[in-house]
Amino acid sequence: MAVKLSCFILFFMLIESNVFAYQYQVGNLQAWNLPTSTDPKVYTNWPKKLTFKIGDSLLFLYPPSQDSVIQVTKESYNTCNIKNPILYMDDGNSLFNITSPGVFYFTSGVSGHCEKSQKLQISVYASDGSLPEPPAYGPSGALADTAPSYPTVFGGIPTGPSPSSSSSLNIKTSVYVAVVIGVLVCGLVGDMI
Ligand SMILES: *[C@@H]1O[C@H](CO)[C@@H](O)[C@H](O)[C@H]1NC(C)=O
Repeated sequence: MAVKLSCFILFFMLIESNVFAYQYQVGNLQAWNLPTSTDPKVYTNWPKKLTFKIGDSLLFLYPPSQDSVIQVTKESYNTCNIKNPILYMDDGNSLFNITSPGVFYFTSGVSGHCEKSQKLQISVYASDGSLPEPPAYGPSGALADTAPSYPTVFGGIPTGPSPSSSSSLNIKTSVYVAVVIGVLVCGLVGDMI
């Protein structure tokens, strides 16, 4: 009984400490595009409620014929310079994987969209709570090479691209799956001892 109990406690601590990777659908929107008049500050407000961490990803959805996503430097972000981006994605189902702490700047690759506030800035804090300066990007923009590996304690819960679901749904599903696994594992451990 004590074994089962400590197993449960350990499991809920793991859930609390956020070991699971989440896929966030940018703006909870079906289309990454110019902000609409009903929600002109969508890209400013959306990240405020969220805590991004290494291992999470950002999903930008949009009709590929109409838009694109670029990751740019802070300076380019502020001045809406869309030339020479760090990363360019235009497949309509663009997944940006967070592999290091820091501040990440995104905007649209379509001329004029940045000026109309289609821009997104997210902060990813290191585990010690610091927010490192942006790394010096090499000519290839190889961000992933220097990234710390994501600790997978029980293995990641797969979060494949799911265009129809929002990020909150993914979070709930992950926690639900975690609880089921926890109950099964803890039950087994308790019976074996
Ligand atoms: C992020 O990871 C997914 C799945 O591994 C991959 O398909 C995608 O290309 C990655 N995104 C970038 C920008 O490398």
